[in-house]
Amino acid sequence: MLIAISIAEVRAAVAGLRAQGKTIGLVPTMGALHEGHLSLVRAAQATCGAVVTTIFVNPTQFGPNEDFSKYPRTFDADCALLEKQGVDVIFAPEPSEMYPAGASTFVEVGGISDRLDGASRPGHFRGVATVVAKLFNIVGPHQAFFGQKDAAQVAVLRRMVRDLNFPVELVVCPIVREPDGLAMSSRNRYLGPEDRRHALVLSRALRQIEVQIAAGIVESGALIRTGLAVLAEESQVRIDYFRVVDPDTLEDLPDVRRGALIAVAAFVGPARLIDNLLIAAR
Ligand code: PAJ
Repeated sequence: MLIAISIAEVRAAVAGLRAQGKTIGLVPTMGALHEGHLSLVRAAQATCGAVVTTIFVNPTQFGPNEDFSKYPRTFDADCALLEKQGVDVIFAPEPSEMYPAGASTFVEVGGISDRLDGASRPGHFRGVATVVAKLFNIVGPHQAFFGQKDAAQVAVLRRMVRDLNFPVELVVCPIVREPDGLAMSSRNRYLGPEDRRHALVLSRALRQIEVQIAAGIVESGALIRTGLAVLAEESQVRIDYFRVVDPDTLEDLPDVRRGALIAVAAFVGPARLIDNLLIAAR
């Protein structure tokens, strides 16, 4: 396994793999790896000849009062996990390699970037779209793997790939959960034992909604009321948003008949957590 820290190194490594006739799968991450990330790596290995995983805590996607400086950094453990998983190349640049002094070009995915997490975190998706566009240009993957866990991120990146004609196929993988239902997240490391218990209310609310939909309730208003009632069981949990939206445009939907994304974000202790449920068209 090669650990590349410069753009030149990763480009040379990928050129070598391509010369061997291998297709390239890209798994972008910010490190602090868990089973959710590893599920993307395994999906990439299933369809690509070689896998490049990136570890880069991207400063441009964090707001001024967010957790950039204290975001968990566990580089050695991450490398050990990726080595064991059989990844071919890790690309782990310094911020100055990705954003040299004077860098002033950004990718703005209009409209959609201001919805859901984009509404709560102004500028977040501009940073995500910019860094992912750069990683696509640096690595040139055939396929790139993302988690459904970050559903709004998926919508923004799908739109970017379409609008800017990136020659890459996005592959979206299901949410990996802890045995008790909590969606895995690097930010779960911020949770103390009490917070950890309170955090379960997010997946519980979504499961309750799933039960209601199975019972034939399809109106967004009714489903959101159910979700909010479950969330209210934990008074320490502060809701950021709870919405029923179109998974591609992130605009509100009146019902889930033609499919929907039911997405929740909430503050639990020191962490802002997100979770969602994708409903297929009926
Ligand atoms: P990060 O939060 O490290 O997540 C990297 C990838 O892992 C994302 O595609 C995310 O959706 C996926 N992922 C995280 N938790 C998951 C889970 N429980 N189940 C399945 N997939 C999961 O998302 C980012 O980093 C950044 O925004 C990035 C795309 C790397 C750009 O900086």
